[in-house]
Amino acid sequence: MYLHKIYFIWSLVRLVLLGEGQGEESWKSLNVSVSGRLHSIQPFALPCYSFYNGNKVEVNETACALIREDYVENSIHAERPNGYMNLQSEMCLGDPVDQCLLDNTEIPAPEPARGTSCNQGSVPSYYIEVEEISDITAALNFSQDHGVPLVIKNSGHDYMTRNSQKGSISLWVHKLKGLTYHDDFVPEGCGVDLRVGRAITAGTGVSTGDIYNFAHEHSSTFVGGYSASVAASGGWVQGGGHSVLSPVYGLGVDRVVEFKIVTPDGVARVANQCQHDDLFWALRGGGGGTFGVVLEATHRVEPLIPVAVASIKLPSNGTAETSLEWMELMARESLAWGKQGWGGHVAGIYLTYMNPTPDIANLTDGGAAAKSSMRAASEFALAHGGSSEIEVLPSFLDVWNKYVLPGALTTAGVTRVLGTRLIPRKLFSDEAGITRFMDFLKAVQKLGFDPRNLYCPVDTPFVADAATKLEVGNHTRPTTSVQPAWYDSLWVVSTSLVVAWNASYADRLQNMTAIIRATLLAEELTGADGGTYLNEANPFTPDWQQSWWGDNYAPLLEIKKKYDPKGLLKCWKCIGFEEKDILSDRFRCQGKLQLDVDQSIKGSL
Ligand SMILES: Cc1cc2nc3c(=O)[nH]c(=O)nc-3n(C[C@H](O)[C@H](O)[C@H](O)COP(=O)(O)OP(=O)(O)OC[C@H]3O[C@@H](n4cnc5c(N)ncnc54)[C@H](O)[C@@H]3O)c2cc1C
Ligand SMILES: *[C@@H]1O[C@H](CO)[C@@H](O)[C@H](O)[C@H]1NC(C)=O
Ligand SMILES: *[C@@H]1O[C@H](CO)[C@@H](O)[C@H](O)[C@H]1NC(C)=O
Ligand SMILES: *[C@@H]1O[C@H](CO)[C@@H](O)[C@H](O)[C@H]1NC(C)=O
Ligand SMILES: *[C@@H]1O[C@H](CO)[C@@H](O)[C@H](O)[C@H]1NC(C)=O
Ligand SMILES: *[C@@H]1O[C@H](CO)[C@@H](O)[C@H](O)[C@H]1NC(C)=O
Ligand SMILES: *[C@@H]1O[C@H](CO)[C@@H](O)[C@H](O)[C@H]1NC(C)=O
Ligand SMILES: *[C@@H]1O[C@H](CO)[C@@H](O)[C@H](O)[C@H]1NC(C)=O
Ligand SMILES: *[C@@H]1O[C@H](CO)[C@@H](O)[C@H](O)[C@H]1NC(C)=O
Repeated sequence: MYLHKIYFIWSLVRLVLLGEGQGEESWKSLNVSVSGRLHSIQPFALPCYSFYNGNKVEVNETACALIREDYVENSIHAERPNGYMNLQSEMCLGDPVDQCLLDNTEIPAPEPARGTSCNQGSVPSYYIEVEEISDITAALNFSQDHGVPLVIKNSGHDYMTRNSQKGSISLWVHKLKGLTYHDDFVPEGCGVDLRVGRAITAGTGVSTGDIYNFAHEHSSTFVGGYSASVAASGGWVQGGGHSVLSPVYGLGVDRVVEFKIVTPDGVARVANQCQHDDLFWALRGGGGGTFGVVLEATHRVEPLIPVAVASIKLPSNGTAETSLEWMELMARESLAWGKQGWGGHVAGIYLTYMNPTPDIANLTDGGAAAKSSMRAASEFALAHGGSSEIEVLPSFLDVWNKYVLPGALTTAGVTRVLGTRLIPRKLFSDEAGITRFMDFLKAVQKLGFDPRNLYCPVDTPFVADAATKLEVGNHTRPTTSVQPAWYDSLWVVSTSLVVAWNASYADRLQNMTAIIRATLLAEELTGADGGTYLNEANPFTPDWQQSWWGDNYAPLLEIKKKYDPKGLLKCWKCIGFEEKDILSDRFRCQGKLQLDVDQSIKGSL
């Protein structure tokens, strides 16, 4: 109860800080400017609680039953303004009392203990359901006049805590739908010599699954991510956007040809190769939530193509040693597979690979070419009591529906934290490199990361050589702003952990310190040749500018200053985030933990 009281006093202080007491009128007028689409936000699990921010409230049995049943369902989170796939976006990481979670170890999630309070955590205070450009400009004006932070929330897939912020107004852009197919798209303001062929314009709120189906209806293939609910024209593409088809067709940033966006100076702009090309470059890798509110993006698409798929599994009760042997085999085969055009995921106890190149994805050879390419992996799995399924299907959608979708619907409702690193292809090219890679895996195992839980996207533009070779007409497209290591790497190696829903502060600090140690070991493995994917990184990474952007950070910062001179969009370790922000109130949920993690890393060096 003592903590509840402190929390209550803090809430009062915040009410004043937010200006609600003194500026009731200005909130009302903001609401009028956005045609009544300003609403307060309550945490996702509130209907199951009988206290809210320390005050007695009624449990809503109907709403609670649904939330308990669907706590780990991606779709329910993606469709709600208060739905975050990963719990780190709604809990206050630095303060275990300040959260509103359910026990995610059982389905349906048990009811919360009586008397515990649902607290706001890092869930924003308000959201605006964005429909019009003027909703965005009104919010920008309000933020500037009243100092209330803004965040942008779309599908809620972020691992990096950038889609929420304590005390902020959230621009909920998920309702910006709309899909248009173009036979031969010419970016606005470009001459017809810059036509890009078939393309799809997708509103920022459209899910990847909907784009896959829409593309298929137009006899086309969209090169998108794994999870059905990720917003392809949202954070996915702005941060890089990898696909199992990326080895052959490039990253999302290599394929997007135009954005419509409202920049923080309140202007709606088109960004492509012919206008605002600096902004266009920045939006292709600089990260979401930074350069403005994207309304829609246009992506090149491919024709319908047969795709080979290999789904090879070790038994789930195998040993960690077997997984290490498996990973060594994966590392040894990876360059050959890469050159053949395979992409997908290598994990501690399975691989799921896909390949759209005609030599392998041969619809008339009964899968022979694909099977032959994957022979070593199949034999290993079968010899260890596992399974191997390899076939060629007529389209990517067929493969995705059969092999990806069923397993990708229930990953929500956990605090999953990743520690990732792009692994340069040269590491896989000789014995010394493979030995170093295996030594790294054994070292992270000692830190508590079971090799069976490894998960490595193999989605780098390997055959495509997309940075330099994707040509449009007679022009080579300008390079993107993602970490340049994307174009010299083969794998993104990923260790991860799950922080318990009810972990104490000491447990959180231990967990984050462990994953930072794993991250630092991965940095040591690759040196400056590596880097990582800013959408799937460890949010506590110390040298984040270098890790996530390398030499692109400085020019990205210049573009940020040009389009957001007042710094109205600020998110955790986004372009323009400064070290002093770690201590600021709006980032206090991450800030305390960051300082303590830094301290415990330093203490142990
Ligand atoms: C289960 C799962 C599977 C994933 N699979 C893949 C994968 O296969 N490939 C891959 O590359 N990544 C993958 N990711 C990572 C994913 O790309 C990122 O989490 C991405 O940021 C999600 O973007 P979003 O807009 O859907 O999510 P949100 O969490 O809503 O937003 C993410 C970030 O983008 C910003 N943002 C969103 N919309 C806009 C907009 N319209 N304008 C400006 N900023 C915006 C937000 O402010 C936030 O900073 C996966 C993540 C999860 C949780
Ligand atoms: C904004 O106005 C709408 C419609 O009048 C109302 O339903 C809503 O509660 C208002 N929002 C706030 C935060 O008061
Ligand atoms: C309870 O939740 C349901 C479903 O969300 C909603 O329709 C209903 O209005 C809520 N009841 C109350 C009393 O708020
Ligand atoms: C935002 O402010 C600008 C400049 O003060 C003004 O021109 C514009 O009309 C405002 N927009 C909204 C939607 O309030
Ligand atoms: C794993 O499970 C299979 C089938 O359930 C069983 O045959 C095998 O002995 C088990 N292996 C180990 C190492 O427990
Ligand atoms: C596909 O397989 C058939 C039958 O084996 C073969 O004749 C053909 O050459 C193969 N095509 C390619 C592109 O390899
Ligand atoms: C590309 O350049 C060649 C030679 O300069 C020219 O003949 C051709 O018309 C150009 N193509 C386009 C699409 O501009
Ligand atoms: C956390 O929750 C689990 C159930 O999910 C329970 O077994 C455990 O005792 C709880 N831990 C603490 C510290 O309350
Ligand atoms: C994370 O913390 C939990 C306790 O909450 C612990 O059981 C687990 O081993 C930790 N994970 C790692 C990788 O350190």
